[in-house]
Amino acid sequence: MIFKENLFSGKIILITGGGSGLGLAMARGFAELGGRVFICGRTEEKLVKAVEELEKIQPLHHRYAVVDVRDAAQVEQWMNEIFESEGKAHVLINNAAGNFLSFSEKLTPNAFKTVVDIVLLGTFYASLYFARNLIEKKLDGCIINIVTTYAETGSAFVLPSAAAKAGVLAMTRSLAYEWADYHIRVNAIAPGPFPTEGAWSRLSPDPSFQEKYLRHLPLHRFGRMEELVQSVIFLASDAASYITGENLTVDGGEHLRSGQFNLIKELYSRDQLEQFFSYLKDLHRSKKK
Ligand code: COA
Repeated sequence: MIFKENLFSGKIILITGGGSGLGLAMARGFAELGGRVFICGRTEEKLVKAVEELEKIQPLHHRYAVVDVRDAAQVEQWMNEIFESEGKAHVLINNAAGNFLSFSEKLTPNAFKTVVDIVLLGTFYASLYFARNLIEKKLDGCIINIVTTYAETGSAFVLPSAAAKAGVLAMTRSLAYEWADYHIRVNAIAPGPFPTEGAWSRLSPDPSFQEKYLRHLPLHRFGRMEELVQSVIFLASDAASYITGENLTVDGGEHLRSGQFNLIKELYSRDQLEQFFSYLKDLHRSKKK
């Protein structure tokens, strides 16, 4: 951690889907910096283990609640209980998500709705009840929505997720402007390829996928979870106090692949390109003579 020790001391951080994967990695990061973490998710067993682990990092009475973010009443109760018992909360991270690969024409209405309910409505419910409590208590706050790079571009085979995450991005920018009046900052983070067991077992067509994928990445490696966690911590910290409505892309440059000539980097070796570029230069010189 490059951040100051106990940077989040006295702060309360709420993380949806905090029992595993990226959510838990973020929870660990905040706990290491002295933050008190409140996680929610659907599976109690995972949440119990997660809180035990967080307590070992720093025993700060981290807490969990079994909440399905698709259920507005459950989300409202979770938020209200936290604000009633603690009197405050500082950061909300909307991380809970659902996703799977499918041909779009084979999706059922319920499959589409299920992902949209988790990602788009879940983010809205948590943001709504978090902000209502902050506004009522005249407290500042910060919301970070975990989106994805394809929230901007769209993507084949993950239509419900792409549509829902694009909605979350629009929500981020809309609320950032509107809730600036209440000193509530709202930002998004767009992770690129950060393999987590849950996501990649669902989203990798076969075991060689990771290796094939690596070839397309400008930095030739996947992101390390701590690189993503530290970006989230930055946005949640006072170092980002003048940043709102932003979407921070953390993908090692992957989203720039569409640059018109970038493809040749993938199709030809460095030696082949050296030869071709030299040939072009010689041709240019000979024409000038
Ligand atoms: N392909 C096509 N449709 C699928 C699917 C898949 N791989 N997985 C689920 N569905 C459909 C189901 O068939 C169902 O539609 P139907 O009723 O018309 O048949 C609908 O989606 C809901 O599925 P269900 O299993 O009842 O929902 P759930 O609430 O138990 O699960 C999911 C939610 C579908 C998002 C599930 O993948 C999940 O829980 N994921 C864990 C979290 C996650 O995905 N995190 C993100 C990692 S990137």
